[in-house]
Amino acid sequence: MNILQINSSARSEGSFSTRIAKAVVERLRIDQPQAEVTVRDLGRAPHPMLEEATLQALFTPAEQRTPAQAERVALDDALIAEVQKADVLVLGVPMYNFSVPAQLKNWIDAISRAGVTFRYTEQGPEGLLKGKKAVVVQARGGVHRNSPTDTMTPYLKTILGFLGITEVEFVYAEGLSMGPEAEKNGLAAAYEQIEQAVSA
Ligand SMILES: Cc1cc2nc3c(=O)[nH]c(=O)nc-3n(C[C@H](O)[C@H](O)[C@H](O)COP(=O)(O)O)c2cc1C
Repeated sequence: MNILQINSSARSEGSFSTRIAKAVVERLRIDQPQAEVTVRDLGRAPHPMLEEATLQALFTPAEQRTPAQAERVALDDALIAEVQKADVLVLGVPMYNFSVPAQLKNWIDAISRAGVTFRYTEQGPEGLLKGKKAVVVQARGGVHRNSPTDTMTPYLKTILGFLGITEVEFVYAEGLSMGPEAEKNGLAAAYEQIEQAVSA
């Protein structure tokens, strides 16, 4: 089994989403001690955003790319290869200003490639990242679960599903900025959700 842990907190120390994502991976490894784990920390090593030069590189046939274009596309290729290889994705995702961190969005933009991770057919879009499961750990300062302010859960379900990853479980750590008691309860509740998320 191959596990891919994606951290997207801007914090290199003290990140709750990273810490809980790690706990999910450790729980997965109890059942699969031989599992190979790859950790990509988008906070420590930010992936470049999608801008015009990158789009041009992506839409240039491989054999016609300049060395700089080929180098840029290779960065995205590496992320795609990691996801393709993974059986389980564990995403650590803080809420930043009611959305996912820009670092995670850059990762999503990099792995969403027509003809490789999804394609359009006469029946509509088809995700090509099949047979994978995802566990998404969300850390939030406030409490948003099942409320209109939770834009992240529907978004992440939509994009992962679009890419073919339809088996998605969520772990919520909420109320983390609402005082020590709320933080303690929010973390305890998140750790309790791990078992269910992993065995679902
Ligand atoms: C830049 C920034 C924006 C944030 N925006 C929100 C927000 O919109 N809603 C919320 O509930 N918490 C918000 N928070 C609180 C974080 O979601 C919370 O601190 C979380 O634990 C961060 O994840 P991490 O511990 O993995 O770094 C924000 C924190 C930061 C640093």
